[in-house]
Amino acid sequence: MYGPQGNGATRPVRKVTVPEIRGRKGGAPIAMVTAYDYTMARLLDEGGADVLLVGDSLGMVIQGHQTTLPVTLEEICYHGRAVARGARRAHVVGDMPFMSYQVSATQAVENAGKLLKEGAFESVKLEGGEEIAEHVRRIVAAGIPVMGHVGLTPQSVHAMGGFKVQAKSDEAIERLLEGARAIEEAGAYAIVLEAIPPDVAAEVTAALSIPTIGIGAGPRCDGQVLVCYDLLGMYPELQPKFAKRFAEVGEQIIKATREYVSEVNEHTFPGPEHSFKESGRRERNSAPSLPQVAPADEIPPHWQTH
Ligand code: KIV
Repeated sequence: MYGPQGNGATRPVRKVTVPEIRGRKGGAPIAMVTAYDYTMARLLDEGGADVLLVGDSLGMVIQGHQTTLPVTLEEICYHGRAVARGARRAHVVGDMPFMSYQVSATQAVENAGKLLKEGAFESVKLEGGEEIAEHVRRIVAAGIPVMGHVGLTPQSVHAMGGFKVQAKSDEAIERLLEGARAIEEAGAYAIVLEAIPPDVAAEVTAALSIPTIGIGAGPRCDGQVLVCYDLLGMYPELQPKFAKRFAEVGEQIIKATREYVSEVNEHTFPGPEHSFKESGRRERNSAPSLPQVAPADEIPPHWQTH
């Protein structure tokens, strides 16, 4: 049984804050993971994740799209509210979806505000370098903490010609460094580095005073992030090299479902331990009795509340 005391009881836990994340530059690594719903958020939080990201990757792993582009602000807010309820300790950051911040700095501030007001987020993340630095500055000036994201920026998938490793040429590395510096100067508290060579990530990490959080960027970042379904082995469609599967939960789900289906077909589920007490109606009315099952004494606690 999961739960802080192993019995479902809860005790107050101090939230991970933006200044704390910012202060972990060069210190204890930051472990970030995506989450999209209450139950998963609760489990990841209990597993010790420092930051939960409601990524626009939800367009792919939750909604089944080929890219993150169709995701809307309302959808991010919906998932954000669910994740926020499950995150007792972890900081919760929300992705600004495609076209919710690129049009103007004013649009960016308004929509970042909506993520905090309607999505229950504690900070926002957006993709891009110099071209959105002014937007970051304005969001930060409004009191909203911003996490940057450079390198492979999935919202530009068509411009990049696919989900490909970035910053391979000297020119591209310089551009990446300038972009990361611009986002830092604009006031971001941390920055995601996605799918870039490890030595480039190390150079960016050394050049910035804010923490870098890598995904496919090697070990020399200030933290790491993974999509939870990759980490758990639940998303077979796209398996990038960097997505280490720490478990094979997908296989477990298929196995458990097969067992359930077979027990339903064989009438072995539900057994007496999963059934309520017989009413005794047939015996009271002296009708021939039905085949007996042992009484289930207790209604599970979560049923009593519904
Ligand atoms: O949307 C997402 O899940 C992300 C992470 C991969 C960093 O942006």
